[in-house]
Amino acid sequence: MDGRLCIDLGCGLGGWTFGFLDAGFKVVGYDIEDFSARYPGKFVQADLFSLDVFPDADVVVGSSPCTDFTKTGLPPSWPSVRRFPPDVERGVRLFNRFREIAMRVSPRLWVLENVRKAQDFVGPAKTHYGSRYLWGEFPDFMVPYSGDEYGKWRQPPSEERTATRSMIPYSLARGLAESIRFHLEAVSQPQEEPRR
Ligand SMILES: C[S@@+](CC[C@H](N)C(=O)[O-])C[C@H]1O[C@@H](n2cnc3c(N)ncnc32)[C@H](O)[C@@H]1O
Repeated sequence: MDGRLCIDLGCGLGGWTFGFLDAGFKVVGYDIEDFSARYPGKFVQADLFSLDVFPDADVVVGSSPCTDFTKTGLPPSWPSVRRFPPDVERGVRLFNRFREIAMRVSPRLWVLENVRKAQDFVGPAKTHYGSRYLWGEFPDFMVPYSGDEYGKWRQPPSEERTATRSMIPYSLARGLAESIRFHLEAVSQPQEEPRR
């Protein structure tokens, strides 16, 4: 696995990254906010609308913010919707920018995560695991049940609550990473000489 590189767009605290590191990838994460103190891979703080040069990666993963999509499904009278109404255009702009960067990887292997509601604005997801909807080009994979998704509802208030709640569950990240590793190893095997 030496040298396989994964890029994590909008990496936050590294939900995707933990799974890819444990599957043997190197990971570089990009985020507009500074997560350098706790991010588990190599961290680059950057606005992805301004940055346009990325290392040659084997796979790109990412999660653009979902709040603008989620809020379109909530009653307008909800306090959080009244105070900060959804800006769907902003949500779509971010999703499309993440997708545009992700699709540059060659051969194409990329995965973007968002919420079910995003499909109304950016097109259908390829699959979903619970509330995590996935767009992209990636092999099928299994997610062993671990229950790690559910702890997010019980998190006490804290400065990092938003970031920890949006973390990709480890079982999902690891399941995808292992399947991509297997896929990359299979496609890089030398072809057998045809028998004469
Ligand atoms: C849903 S969270 C990602 C959660 C992460 N995948 C995880 O598993 O921990 C979306 C992230 O996108 C980042 N973000 C938003 N706008 C951005 C931009 N213009 N450039 C880079 N990152 C951005 C946010 O700071 C946030 O950390």
